[in-house]
Parts: sequence; structure tokens; C-alpha cells
Amino acid sequence: MAVGERAVGRFRELVDDDPREFRIHGAVYTDPEVFVAEMARIFERSWVYVGHDSELPAAGDYKTVVVGTQPLILTRHEDGEIYCLYNRCRHRGAVVCRQERGHSNFFRCRYHNWVYANNGDLIGMSQSTGYPDDFDRSGYGLVRAPALAAYRGLLFVRLAEQGPSLAEHLAPARRYIDWWLGRSPVEEVELVLPPHRYEYPGNWKLQVENGYDGYHGNYVHLSWQRVLQLSRESTVEEIQRYRQSGAARGLANGHGLLERPGSLNPNASWTARMMQRYPEYAEAMRGRFSEEQLVAISARRNIFIFPNLYLFDTHIRVIMPKAADRTEVQLYVYALKGVPEVINEGRFRGHERFYGPAGFGAPDDIEVFTEVQTGVHATGHGWNLLNRGQHRERIEEGEWVGHTTDEAPQRSLYRHWRRMMAEA
Ligand code: FES
Ligand SMILES: [Fe+2]
Repeated sequence: MAVGERAVGRFRELVDDDPREFRIHGAVYTDPEVFVAEMARIFERSWVYVGHDSELPAAGDYKTVVVGTQPLILTRHEDGEIYCLYNRCRHRGAVVCRQERGHSNFFRCRYHNWVYANNGDLIGMSQSTGYPDDFDRSGYGLVRAPALAAYRGLLFVRLAEQGPSLAEHLAPARRYIDWWLGRSPVEEVELVLPPHRYEYPGNWKLQVENGYDGYHGNYVHLSWQRVLQLSRESTVEEIQRYRQSGAARGLANGHGLLERPGSLNPNASWTARMMQRYPEYAEAMRGRFSEEQLVAISARRNIFIFPNLYLFDTHIRVIMPKAADRTEVQLYVYALKGVPEVINEGRFRGHERFYGPAGFGAPDDIEVFTEVQTGVHATGHGWNLLNRGQHRERIEEGEWVGHTTDEAPQRSLYRHWRRMMAEA
């Protein structure tokens, strides 16, 4: 999918990295040409999250995913390895796997019955006398994606032949991923399948911008804050004070996060509270981590890994662009391994209460996405501001660090977005 030189120049102009007034043009959300280029230049070139290894525990387990515009199968072969295959029959192009997930020891194309093993090898052809005796099946397996790699159970593919390694891509966010896993004393999570999902009539970047946006909570989620006050779990004042604490961080490579401070005080952090309540959890955590590590782990974070993955405290969120104005989002709730059952039960119920389809939080965010998608069609001015906190942000260890309500991570997103959209 070639994108003309003129268009590439135009994409660069859609992000105005002004030192006082960082802004982006509304066309980043609405222009179908931008969307086509994003799929080719970002999703089919960058490392993209496709799943977690706990989704495919046994040989024969598979799931299908779409990366950019490319249908793929992720499956575990009998050799124990996970393979990422293009979901396209080598005969005449039909998808060979039509299910979202399941278990099968082969993929049979239903059009003319060619059969493939889980590593992609072509292992059977119907009425094969129609092909010469020297037809070499080994040249007609399902094609493997150029690069598949894992970091601590998180699986990523890169559809470009060349590019940075996964380690290089994740490096700026790596310690945050490690701390996220550290709430489990064995540093592992297990996904609870299937995911729940929603679709909204808006651009995929609206979901990205919102997940680490510390600014909107007191307004969009005031009703949620009032629910907590009514149920006497907290007061609106306490919640709003807490929401002033922490930091918003923009990282290199387009990653970013929103962070609330860590603490070993049970009144100030969830992890410390669980450790106080469940001595076996405390013992396991103290056996694994130093005090300093525990403080880092106990911070609450919404971590975005460019371009499509969020690590939240209850779930892994996957953002799947469908069109400039349509996005699917999948939420994979996960259990922390090695913790008392009751801790995970509490996390699941908390997730449902805020993020679930009938939750008090996420549905309000989704409503706002549609409002932005509608509003940005007005071209009277055309630009959206992302300059909150630019005058007060600081650079620490290569991170742009701002007040918790600042737009440092969003700026990071669009700096990297521009690099990928406009570089040769
Ligand atoms: S298209 Fe798959 S067997 Fe013909
Ligand atoms: Fe929100």
C-alpha cells in the first residue's frame, strides 16, 4: 500500500510540535487517507500486540487476529512453539481459519480442502492427482509473519521484514511492564477468557488518548465518584484529592502512562492494603521483592504500549482500528498468579463495576469518543490542543514528566505517530 510523497508531507503537518502550543489537526481522526496510511505505516510496520501466551496453553490452541489490514492466525504447534501465520490459503486465498479462537490440530480450507499443520506446513490436498508428481508441497505452506516475539508472556508481531527488535521497541516502558507484573509474587498473569469488547463510532487514537488522561476524570466520571460517596466507600473530595497525585509520563517510542504514587501504607495503596489483609500474600511479596521494589510495584498505572496495547490494573486492553471512525476494543481481564483467590475475585468485581458493559466508568468515556468524533468535523478552526502542562513538564531519564492532569503522554504518542507516518 504505497502512500504518495505529497501525502507523507501532509501527514507531518498534522502534528504541530510547537514548544508552547502542541496541537494536532482534526484530520488525524477523520481522514480515510490518514487511516489507510496508519495501517500501512504503523500497524503493518511496528511491533503490535497480538495476545498473551496464557491464551494458547496447549498444542493446537489458536486465535485469529487482524493486524492493520492483515488477517493472522496465532497458534501453538506440537513442537510447543507459537507460530504466527497469515490466514490466507495458498491456493486461492480464502481464510483457512474462520473462528476467533479454539483448538485444532490442523487448519482445513473449506473452499477446496487443502489442509495445513499448526506450523503452517501444507500437509494435505484433495484430489491431488490434479497436480504433477513433483509438486513440492513444502513451498506452499501458510506464510509466517516476519517476526513474532514475546516479552514476559506478552506476544507481539512485526509484519515488516526489517525494524527494531522487540526489546528495543519496549525498552522505554520495560520497567513499568515489570512493575505491572510484580503485583503477582510469581510475576505472572493469566487471562480470563473470553475478553469483553465494545465498538464505538470514533477513531482508535481517541481510546489511546483517554486511557492515560488524568484530566477528564473529575468531569466525565463525577457520577462514579458520587456513587462511591453514596456507598460510603470514599468521598468525592477524597477521590479528587487523590487524582491530583502522581504523574503523567510520555515515553520514547510512543509509549506513555498515568501513574498514582506507590506506598507501603495500606491506606494509600491497593497492594499495601492487600498485603495487610492477606499475610500469605505479604509474605510471598516480601520474599520476592525489596522494599524499594514494593513501593514501585504498588504505584497504580495505566500503561500504554504503542500502538495498540494498554496494561491496566484489572485488564489488558487491545485497541483494534477498523476505519477512521470505527474502533473495536477488547478487554482481557486477568488473574494475578500466586495470590489468594479472594484478591482476584475482588479485582474482577471491581473491573465489572467500572469497566464492564453496565459499569459506572468506561461507558461514559465511550460516549465522549463519539462526541469528539462528531465535533472534529467542524473545520472552522481545525486544530485540537494537546499543550496542557507543556510549560511545567520536565525531562527525567528520557521521559517527559508532567502533572497528573497534563498531556505529556499524548504528546509522546503523536511525536512517534508523526515519525512513523512521515519518515521514509
Ligand atoms: S482456496 Fe483454499 S483450498 Fe482452494
Ligand atoms: Fe475515563
